[in-house]
Amino acid sequence: MLKKEEIIQNIAELKKEKNAIVLAHYYQESEVQDVADFVGDSLVLAQWAAKTTADVIVLCGVHFMGETAKILSPEKRVFIPDMKAGCSLADSCPADAFEAFVKAHPDHTVISYVNTTAAVKALTDIVVTSTNAKLIVDSLPKDEKIIFGPDRNLGGYINRLTGRNMLLWDGSCHVHDRFSVKRINELKKIHPSALVLAHPECPGSLLQLADHVGSTSSILQFATRSDNDKFIVVTEPGILHQMRLANPGKVFIPAPPADSTTDDCNECAFMKLNTLEKVYQCLDNESPEIFVDEALRVKAVKPIERMLEISAKHGL
Ligand code: 13P
Ligand code: SF4
Repeated sequence: MLKKEEIIQNIAELKKEKNAIVLAHYYQESEVQDVADFVGDSLVLAQWAAKTTADVIVLCGVHFMGETAKILSPEKRVFIPDMKAGCSLADSCPADAFEAFVKAHPDHTVISYVNTTAAVKALTDIVVTSTNAKLIVDSLPKDEKIIFGPDRNLGGYINRLTGRNMLLWDGSCHVHDRFSVKRINELKKIHPSALVLAHPECPGSLLQLADHVGSTSSILQFATRSDNDKFIVVTEPGILHQMRLANPGKVFIPAPPADSTTDDCNECAFMKLNTLEKVYQCLDNESPEIFVDEALRVKAVKPIERMLEISAKHGL
C-alpha cells in the first residue's frame, strides 16, 4: 500500500503527464482539497470546467458536478473519483415527474438548481446555483411566472427575498434538511458571541435565525471579512478546512444534525465517498468517466450557459 506522500506525488506527476486539472468542491475531505488545482463552490467549478485548457478534468465532487463539467466541455475527458457519489437533492427530482410538472404549467419559466441531472437541466430555461439564484430570479420581469426546482428550502428563501411566488418542487438535501433550530439554539447558548452562518438549502425556520445566509463561497467570504472570531457553521463541514486555512485565529463550530445525540457534524456521505486514493486511481486508470448523450447535452448546455452569461454580466 502506498504512503500518503507517495499518492500525492503520483497525483502531481499524473496531472502533468495527462495535462489534467483537479477541481474540488468545498465539501471534499481536506486532503482531497489539498491536491486540487482549484477548490470552489458549484458555480466556480462549472466556470472552471468551461474555461480550462486541460485535456482531462478530475471533478472531486458529486455526479451532477462531473456531468455539468462534461456538458460544458464535451471535448474533454471528465472523471470523478467515485461513480456512486450521487446527491439526494438531485435524486428528489426524477426527470419524468419533473417533466409532467413543467408540462402542467406551460406558461412558466423553469429555473433549476445545478444539483440536478442532465435530463432535468434539459427541461430547464435557466440553471442557478446558491451563489446566483437571487440575482438570476431578479433578472426576470416581476410578473414572470416561474417554476423553481428542486430545492424547496432554497426556493422558499428566494421567494421571501424577492417577494415572488415561484412554484416550488418539493425536494431537499438530506444533509441540510437535517439541521434544526433546536440544536442551533443550544449551540448559541454555549457560544453566545458566535455568529450563525447557514446555507440556503437549510429549512426556512433555521435561516431566519442565521446572521448570514449564503452559498459555501459566501459563507467562507463572510467569515473571512468579519471582525467576529467565532462562528457556528450550518452546512456540510468540509467547508471548515478552507475557513480555518483563511482564518487561523478564528473558531468555527460545525452544527450537528437534529437527530444526533452527540456533537457529530453533519457530513454528506456522497461527497465523502471520494478519497485521496480514489483521486489517484481515477487519474491513473482514467476511470470512472462521465459520458453524456450528445442530444441530451445539446439541450442541457443551454440553461447552464444562460446562467454563466447572466452571472458574468453581474461580475460573478
Ligand atoms: P454551493 O457550493 O453552491 O454552495 O452548493 C452546496 C451544495 O450542496 C453542493 O452540493
Ligand atoms: Fe447533494 Fe446535499 Fe450532498 Fe450537496 S450536501 S451533494 S445537495 S446531498
